[in-house]
Amino acid sequence: MVAKVIGTPLSPTAVKVLLLGSGELGKEVTIALQRLGVEVIAVDRYADAPAHQVAHHAEVIDMTDAAQVRSVIDKHRPHYVLPEIEAIATDALEEVEAEGIAEVIPSAKAVSATLNRERIRRLADEELGIPTSPYLFASSLDEMRTAVGSIGFPCVVKPVMSSSGKGQSVLHGPDDVDPAWEYARTGARVDNERVIVEGFVEFDYEITLLTVRAVDPATGALATYFCDPIGHRQVDGDYVESWQPQPMSLPAYDISRSIAARIVNAMGDGELGGRGVFGVELFVKGDEVYFSEVSPRPHDTGLVTLASQRLSEFELHARAVLGLPVSTATRGPGASAVVYGQHEDKGIAFAGVADALADPDVDLRLFGKPESFARRRVGVAVASAATIEEARRKATHAAGLVKPLRADHADGGGPTEIKPVPDPEASDAGDAPTTTIEASPQIARHPEQGVRRDAPPMPRPPMPPGPPMRPGPMARPGPRGPVGPSGQRPAGPPPPRPGFAPPPPPRG
Ligand SMILES: Nc1ncnc2c1ncn2[C@@H]1O[C@H](COP(=O)(O)OP(=O)(O)OP(=O)(O)O)[C@@H](O)[C@H]1O
Ligand SMILES: [Mg+2]
Repeated sequence: MVAKVIGTPLSPTAVKVLLLGSGELGKEVTIALQRLGVEVIAVDRYADAPAHQVAHHAEVIDMTDAAQVRSVIDKHRPHYVLPEIEAIATDALEEVEAEGIAEVIPSAKAVSATLNRERIRRLADEELGIPTSPYLFASSLDEMRTAVGSIGFPCVVKPVMSSSGKGQSVLHGPDDVDPAWEYARTGARVDNERVIVEGFVEFDYEITLLTVRAVDPATGALATYFCDPIGHRQVDGDYVESWQPQPMSLPAYDISRSIAARIVNAMGDGELGGRGVFGVELFVKGDEVYFSEVSPRPHDTGLVTLASQRLSEFELHARAVLGLPVSTATRGPGASAVVYGQHEDKGIAFAGVADALADPDVDLRLFGKPESFARRRVGVAVASAATIEEARRKATHAAGLVKPLRADHADGGGPTEIKPVPDPEASDAGDAPTTTIEASPQIARHPEQGVRRDAPPMPRPPMPPGPPMRPGPMARPGPRGPVGPSGQRPAGPPPPRPGFAPPPPPRG
């Protein structure tokens, strides 16, 4: 079901989208939909969530409660339901889809499958034959000991129902097993003690391959479109920095697209169901590619596309949902760097915004989250530049210039007064004072489009203190540099695809 016409919001002709989850990604999706004249209902478990602040309607419910999910959908009767987070009562989505009340994006099946690491892993490996790290599942400490014994060290333990690195540990030896089990239990999203034990993949770099399933206007059928690969750096299972494009060898790029296409095809119904943006997470080692997981929605590392693509992942998602044409064309190298809250407080403020934006290649998103935690993502800096390295430096530098302040240090908030500069041409006989904003010294110093070409390497902003990853840190070194030709896809036919032969994973 795709929208044939787009009506007027808040009128009987409105095309309506209901977002389950209203964080920073949902906020950008909402803005993209609003620009296309769509009426948006933003739902979250707490009031004043980022997307609540820009949607037509805001609702607060417990999204893990099927009855509440059902009743908010019945109240608003949206055409499309977009789950923007993982912690959602999927039974309600299956019901709504089966009864034809609304279309779930990409599909109720995809949302349920990706909610649980076991289901998506078995789908990728057992049904689609896609290479993954070796893995086993365990539902008790004893089972986990056996699983770890068979996978070997180092390995990674994760609750099957969790996200953003919660409850995850890297195990280096037998002493790490018991603490990892305890930690997984505390990090699980639901009362489910099941964990996955994965072999640790010594990857050269990891990517998110944003893959879009959208209607091809030439055929009216669904087609698969790929964005350039996004490289990223994770600390404690959470993304701190991303860039696009990530240079890749042609064979690795080719295999990545093949894996992503198979995964996203499996998320649909073979007809027009299964539309939208998917974030396919892959580990790359030489020319070998391992599937890790997939988000059936825009991906946090894809915030970089606000700077690097003509249509951001959020605009692509909005278009794909509505059945409109998409283009994954790029604007050039870009990067994103996360701003953390650094304080445990409500209503924090941000200093240094003007400094961060003094570079014309930099843009910022401050999400407006009502409450800050030390390690909560509260904003992001994005930058574009001639090279990936330059873009990363600019984004990271800008993110470091933004200084979260406790509410009681916010200085009353609001803009600072701009001093009127006397206008020599104006007569002083009763004319209203003219306010001129002086050209900034930055522009004066850098006449070549204000771009600082002499910028020194920027130190990374300090990570605010957070609970240490238990028992071994998940922090990885950054990418080990380009493999093969630097981001350029050579012209001409691709070489024959090499067979990838990771060790066959043990069945869990
Ligand atoms: N088997 C593995 N081998 C090596 N590194 C891993 C492995 N599994 C996870 N990681 C590292 O930990 C990061 C987070 O893992 P994963 O994506 O499974 O967790 P998550 O909780 O779903 O995180 P998010 O919700 O942020 O995507 C990965 O991006 C990767 O850097
Ligand atoms: Mg992930």
